[in-house]
Amino acid sequence: MSFCYYHLRVLSLLLFLFLGINNAMPELEEYKTYIVHMDHSHKPSSFLTHESWHRATLRALSNPVDDKEMLLYSYNHAMQGFSARLTPSQVSEIKKSPAHIAIHEERFGRLFTTHSPQFLGLKHSSGLWNASSYGEGVIIGMIDSGVWPESESFNEKGMPPIPTRWKGKCQNSTSHFRCNKKLIGAQVFIKGIQAAGKTDSRDDSPRDFLGHGTHTSSTAAGNHVPGASQFGYAKGTARGIAPRAHVAMYKVSSGGYIVESDVLAAMDQAVADGVDIMSLSLGFDQTPYFQDIIAIASLSAIEKGIVVVCSAGNDGAPNTTHNAAPWITTVGAGTLDRSFSATVTLGNDLTFEGKSEFPDRVIVGDTPLYYGKGDFNKTICSYGALNESEVFGKVVICDNTNRFSIFEQADELARVSAAAGILMEAWTLYGVDGLSIPSLVLPTSSGALIRKYAIGAAGEAKVKIMRFVLTSFGTKPAPQVAEFSSKGPDPLNPNILKPDIIAPGVRVLAAVPPIIPVGILGNHELASDYALFSGTSMSAPHVAGVAALLKAVHPEWSPAAIRSALMTTADTIDNNGTTLTNELTNLPGTPLDFGAGHINPNKAMNPGLIYDIDWQGYVDFLCGLGYNDTEMRAILRQSQWNCSQEGTDLNYPSFVAIFSKNASSPNVKNFTRVVTNVGDDQSVYQAIAKTTNGMSIIVEPTTLTFTSKYQKQSYVVSVQMDGKAPPVAYGYLNWVDQNSHIVASPVVVLNF
Ligand SMILES: *[C@@H]1O[C@H](CO)[C@@H](O)[C@H](O)[C@H]1NC(C)=O
Ligand SMILES: *[C@@H]1O[C@H](CO)[C@@H](O)[C@H](O)[C@H]1NC(C)=O
Ligand SMILES: *[C@@H]1O[C@H](CO)[C@@H](O)[C@H](O)[C@H]1NC(C)=O
Ligand SMILES: *[C@@H]1O[C@H](CO)[C@@H](O)[C@H](O)[C@H]1NC(C)=O
Ligand SMILES: *[C@@H]1O[C@H](CO)[C@@H](O)[C@H](O)[C@H]1NC(C)=O
Ligand SMILES: *[C@@H]1O[C@H](CO)[C@@H](O)[C@H](O)[C@H]1NC(C)=O
Ligand SMILES: *[C@@H]1O[C@H](CO)[C@@H](O)[C@H](O)[C@H]1NC(C)=O
Ligand SMILES: *[C@@H]1O[C@H](CO)[C@@H](O)[C@H](O)[C@H]1NC(C)=O
Ligand SMILES: *[C@@H]1O[C@H](CO)[C@@H](O)[C@H](O)[C@H]1NC(C)=O
Ligand SMILES: *[C@@H]1O[C@H](CO)[C@@H](O)[C@H](O)[C@H]1NC(C)=O
Repeated sequence: MSFCYYHLRVLSLLLFLFLGINNAMPELEEYKTYIVHMDHSHKPSSFLTHESWHRATLRALSNPVDDKEMLLYSYNHAMQGFSARLTPSQVSEIKKSPAHIAIHEERFGRLFTTHSPQFLGLKHSSGLWNASSYGEGVIIGMIDSGVWPESESFNEKGMPPIPTRWKGKCQNSTSHFRCNKKLIGAQVFIKGIQAAGKTDSRDDSPRDFLGHGTHTSSTAAGNHVPGASQFGYAKGTARGIAPRAHVAMYKVSSGGYIVESDVLAAMDQAVADGVDIMSLSLGFDQTPYFQDIIAIASLSAIEKGIVVVCSAGNDGAPNTTHNAAPWITTVGAGTLDRSFSATVTLGNDLTFEGKSEFPDRVIVGDTPLYYGKGDFNKTICSYGALNESEVFGKVVICDNTNRFSIFEQADELARVSAAAGILMEAWTLYGVDGLSIPSLVLPTSSGALIRKYAIGAAGEAKVKIMRFVLTSFGTKPAPQVAEFSSKGPDPLNPNILKPDIIAPGVRVLAAVPPIIPVGILGNHELASDYALFSGTSMSAPHVAGVAALLKAVHPEWSPAAIRSALMTTADTIDNNGTTLTNELTNLPGTPLDFGAGHINPNKAMNPGLIYDIDWQGYVDFLCGLGYNDTEMRAILRQSQWNCSQEGTDLNYPSFVAIFSKNASSPNVKNFTRVVTNVGDDQSVYQAIAKTTNGMSIIVEPTTLTFTSKYQKQSYVVSVQMDGKAPPVAYGYLNWVDQNSHIVASPVVVLNF
């Protein structure tokens, strides 16, 4: 995509050309937004600020419009450099500057579109909520689409004062926007979208006109709101994961667009403002770390002790994870144990329950049931397929197993004024909300009895009663890995297991602006204060909330320690006692689908051991990638660094061993790890390896003895593949102590 305007002088020349003056064709130079990495150590001391130096650099270019118009943002904290509107010849001039490190054209990104605290095991009286005082005093920075400040989820009841270390702002000059002790900051970063000509005019305030940012921030840290629901479904108290944490909104989206220069500016500001956690439910196409602005900005945030939590993406397929740099906590999505349903009782008294989110308590009684008299083509309910005089006022069975079709089918039923629909589907993506007629969605397989009855009873078939708006809990199996959740291996670096973890991301109830439609009833769009959204966008803020709780309990833990605690205590078994399954297939998943597993916040509070990583650990990891000096400087924001002689094995809490099927290449890979004791002084851990066919794990030593807290011990894991190994094999390395800490790491073997 390119959105451009032309230099005015060039434009007037162009008009001359149209008037027929035969001139040499001037080269038309488009202005585009570029992200420019600079080495700030080159700033002449005559410039007081980096911004004044950046402006002077722009003014010195040939044909500068005006540095005020060219410069979008100066970056100081998350990156060194600036973003600006430039022509290709100006870009070449900048490249000649000795301070220049790297430059690239701006890219577009996308958003990765309350019962969940209880599902995660959070309880008032004990565990992580109690120990952290609900995340009291922690500041979560949300990089998102804005926030609806009047939502009850952002009320300040019971909130502690704003921390004195907070340096952020509330951009409250327009649209009656108010912050308080819950919502302590709100700023807008949309200059990049404006420069691309894509803004929605309302978006000069931090207010959320999409719903995404209100939903994610109330999921992470919304206050208690009794009686929240979307049209009666999922009724209960809505509350965020860390209800006593503060929220700061950095709005980076306008009209649904996202660009790099804005996201980078928001992260730069969030670092400067003093957030403790950053949560991003958005992303860009995968690029190497030295060109990935989220990876670059996150590394500087991590250096300052800020935990960065990002969505893994909604691409669904293997090899599609986003935001997977090893200093980021990358989150996939799982289902909840809650389902929304409707029931139908047939004339023969058989009752069926199916999925439904129809937003009204309709009850359909004693109505003829229509099944196209067995004519397959009349039951498809594709647009125009039904005859109104045949189906008017009847309950219609739509027997179609095609994907994405239920919305079209419901529209067809509404067109011919059917009373209700029984839709059969093999598969449903984002739930069954937004259907334009009372409908119940059944898996094709369980529809056999209904079909049999309808065909058998022919013209006499009827529905005795259909009920809507039923919510049930304890659905099994749960959690499952959401169909849409992006799966590993990571396309950029398959040596690091991604996603790290999964968290609830399917039909999550949270706050939304009351101005956006979240349901349809007949021809009316319905709004609600709370709505069910799905996506890894919804799962990342759950983990950001848990990270805030952990930060409140363990303020001294590094971002890597917090992630390690989340990962090594995660659940890999569902509520039916088996390995987490995939929603699409119902078959057992692997760590490529769910990472270390599904978050278990209370266990994460007391993990026993942690795998810590300091700055030098990440530098060594980058050294091992073979980046050249320019690339290293772009990501490290420094001109000096040391690559350690001891190797580049990142102290990650999971393992991936990649082997070639080529028989002459090695079939053993050794990993060195260092664990830090964060449990009792005196602890003795035994290694227990669990493997599946095709691999073996040898640990040396097999016992780790600690005599004090924070003591470190190292060990070596040797992962071996046998000749007949499948493409993916996996196991676990668990360190188990006398106090029943289980420190679990997935070990994945890939045979390419
Ligand atoms: C709740 O937290 C307090 C203070 O941190 C602690 O003393 C108490 O033992 C905790 N209660 C439970 C049941 O965990
Ligand atoms: C804007 O917010 C600041 C605190 O961030 C507050 O002092 C000020 O009064 C607010 N202005 C308006 C117009 O509400
Ligand atoms: C019925 O549907 C099938 C499958 O879509 C199609 O092949 C066939 O031509 C249709 N028959 C009629 C009579 O429309
Ligand atoms: C619709 O059904 C009525 C009654 O069965 C029939 O008379 C009419 O021809 C049908 N219309 C079409 C377009 O098939
Ligand atoms: C629960 O597990 C049992 C035994 O593994 C299995 O037979 C059953 O199908 C599972 N139930 C669901 C709902 O997956
Ligand atoms: C994963 O994706 C990357 C780029 O998207 C591609 O280069 C690579 O071959 C893929 N790997 C596998 C195993 O499909
Ligand atoms: C490093 O690699 C980049 C490509 O990513 C290239 O443009 C640059 O010239 C290289 N720099 C050095 C110092 O080799
Ligand atoms: C690199 O190592 C040398 C020698 O140990 C040390 O003097 C220097 O400060 C280190 N540089 C950085 C950037 O860590
Ligand atoms: C197998 O490995 C050998 C030695 O490592 C190498 O020369 C050869 O090209 C490899 N073959 C394939 C198909 O990868
Ligand atoms: C890998 O580890 C195994 C078992 O600890 C050891 O025997 C072997 O020498 C190691 N190999 C390398 C290359 O370090």
